[in-house]
Amino acid sequence: MTLLEINNLSKHFRSGGRDVTALDGVSLTLDSGQTLGLAGASGSGKSTLARIVMRLLPPDGGSIRFAGEDWLALSGKDLRRRRAKIQMVFQDVLGAFNPRATVASVLDDPLRIHEIVPKSDRPRKIAELLDRVGLQGSLADRSIRDVSGGQRQRIAIARAIATDPALIVLDEAVSALDVSIRGKVLELLVELQRERDIAYLFVSHDLAVLRAVSHRITVMDGGRLVETGPARQVIDNPQSTAARALVSAVPRLRIQTPQGHSHEP
Ligand SMILES: Nc1ncnc2c1ncn2[C@@H]1O[C@H](COP(=O)(O)OP(=O)(O)O)[C@@H](O)[C@H]1O
Ligand SMILES: [Mg+2]
Repeated sequence: MTLLEINNLSKHFRSGGRDVTALDGVSLTLDSGQTLGLAGASGSGKSTLARIVMRLLPPDGGSIRFAGEDWLALSGKDLRRRRAKIQMVFQDVLGAFNPRATVASVLDDPLRIHEIVPKSDRPRKIAELLDRVGLQGSLADRSIRDVSGGQRQRIAIARAIATDPALIVLDEAVSALDVSIRGKVLELLVELQRERDIAYLFVSHDLAVLRAVSHRITVMDGGRLVETGPARQVIDNPQSTAARALVSAVPRLRIQTPQGHSHEP
């Protein structure tokens, strides 16, 4: 089933007298329970697309359908209610949350705002979320700035799944992590997807990361989608200049055993 359908999205920025085309006629679809890897060099427009999908930024033109509804037309109470169904995980979790907040309060926010469970059940639900992402319940009282980068990323994932979303947008969510920790977090994301049928729009400049999680990959260059296909096809046989450049940036990409292929459709 098509969960997300983006049509002809455009976005310009004017900065310092200069006009930047961040998105130029971007169209894509994403099915429920699938991962679309959004690749592209720095400045190609990936975060702009992610932020528009999250409704953090309005587009200049184009449309987005989410779960059969006109996502950009929703407002007020309807938007607040549907927002629970799209969550986001950023690269810089510390920048996204109050650094003095406790882990428990970071997880409590979505449970309270979206009325996921009654107040008296929230501590139990928080413990359950921590456990599900492989963290000790004792972390709940720590401040978010006093946990490791890997733990923080797991907390962001726990927060994202708290509302039982249909889609999670991940913007360079593992890019700041050490390679060994990164692999474990990617495994967790693949497990959660299988278990809960969550779709991921997975933004990364790193094709090695996208290879581990993506069913399909789409490549951006200068605000346009220049190549889309099954992950293996884009990596093994890139057609566009932009895709070839990304492939050659990861020297051993093609000869390693792809971790994510066991979950390819
Ligand atoms: N708020 C903004 N004001 C001005 N220019 C912006 C803004 N956000 C992004 N841009 C520009 O839009 C282009 C795409 O940026 P971005 O979506 O962040 O790319 P990516 O995430 O692929 O690195 C870049 O040229 C960037 O400088
Ligand atoms: Mg970005």
